[in-house]
Amino acid sequence: MIKLAERRIPGPRSVELLQTAREYEPPSMADQIPVVWDHAEGVWITDVDGNIYLDFTSGVLVTNVGHSNPEHVAAIEKQAHRLLNCYSFPTPERINLSKKLVELLPENIDRIFLLTTGAEATEAAIRIAKRYSGKHEILAFYGAFHGRTYGPMSVSGSTNTRRKFGPQLPGGVMAPYGNCYRCIYGKTFPECDYYCIKALDRIIESSTTGDMGAVIVEPYQGTAGFVFPPKGWLKELEKWAARRGLILIVDEVQSSFGRTGKLFAIEWEQIKPQMICLGKGIGSGVPTSALAGESKIFESMLPGEMSSTTGGNPLSSAAALAVIDIMKKEDLPENSRIQGEHLLSRLTALWKKFEFVGDVRGMGLVIGIEIVKDKKSRNPDPALCKKIIRRCAELGLMLGRVGIYGNVIRVAPPLVIKQEECDIAVEIFSTAMDEVSRS
Ligand SMILES: Cc1ncc(COP(=O)(O)O)c(C=O)c1O
Repeated sequence: MIKLAERRIPGPRSVELLQTAREYEPPSMADQIPVVWDHAEGVWITDVDGNIYLDFTSGVLVTNVGHSNPEHVAAIEKQAHRLLNCYSFPTPERINLSKKLVELLPENIDRIFLLTTGAEATEAAIRIAKRYSGKHEILAFYGAFHGRTYGPMSVSGSTNTRRKFGPQLPGGVMAPYGNCYRCIYGKTFPECDYYCIKALDRIIESSTTGDMGAVIVEPYQGTAGFVFPPKGWLKELEKWAARRGLILIVDEVQSSFGRTGKLFAIEWEQIKPQMICLGKGIGSGVPTSALAGESKIFESMLPGEMSSTTGGNPLSSAAALAVIDIMKKEDLPENSRIQGEHLLSRLTALWKKFEFVGDVRGMGLVIGIEIVKDKKSRNPDPALCKKIIRRCAELGLMLGRVGIYGNVIRVAPPLVIKQEECDIAVEIFSTAMDEVSRS
């Protein structure tokens, strides 16, 4: 076990490289702990100054099979020697990956379109939903994040994503998500009886042109601050969408590949969307994404109307096939569930102890710690959140920050993490929080 010692960050080599980064890269990229990563293995990162950190970021919920997983690396290496790209000519890797994904997804899903980034997958879903339904309006949710290109941005529910980008694509209709910690209707679950789902009819009837074709939703909201809807909420949404004849698109770019304790988050409520967007963990670091869907929906696109230069390339397909094998062999979704439960219970103790910890919530290895001014007001405290994250990094724990207000600590280690490593992280959290509470 690695023994973590306090370190001064950034170290001299990081300082030097960060200066060069400032000269050559846009400032929009710089909102992380200011250290330069050199290499990583499993759940451990080493920066260019030789400092070691326990990784609680997985990049941004990407490296689910762990950094430099030997089996993953071997598959990538082997494929790199054989064939890297052949555009949309089929390869055994691409075909096998599509087949494997269909076998793993609900039985209504029978087609896979492979792409490179999450935004490409959600963009494709939006385009296909419009073509198939012949309708241009899409329901999405306050706080949602589906990517930064114009289609997904137009159905994203946060000003942070859209700020000063001018008019968005027409048709994005926004409604409150099942966010019980900050319920916009001031209600409490379960007494509310899914009021926010019931209110959707009124939203549609009062704010659309009557041309609604689809609904896009995250199983939990990632960028909004790891917001988990109450149990049963997604099922209620599925029923509501079916009643209205809407295509249900579930954006699992972040929540899939074991992150919540199941291979896909939709398994928790056994829902069967017509389209599912996959990304991040599917390639575990090799840029890969996919749009999974029903053949009747894909058939609305003519041959040649959907393609992507690097989508489904043999390298990313081989990497994703290895990810699926590793997930199965090591039962990483189950490890995610077990370690997640352990972490959540230990972090909940911190919630009890510190007045500024407003909420601790999660499923599997995706946990949000919401930092607030005080428990009663629930007013966000992004400055304190930053301070805690910075102190944790100095103590050897690498974290990220999310939330509409930037006040949620993002807890998301690679799914190969062991219990003793979770315990190291809790000790660091506890020390950092103790210190900031005294300062
Ligand atoms: C739910 C969700 N959808 C889509 C995206 C966009 O993915 P990418 O950054 O790969 O384009 C993200 C990225 O954070 C996401 O969390």
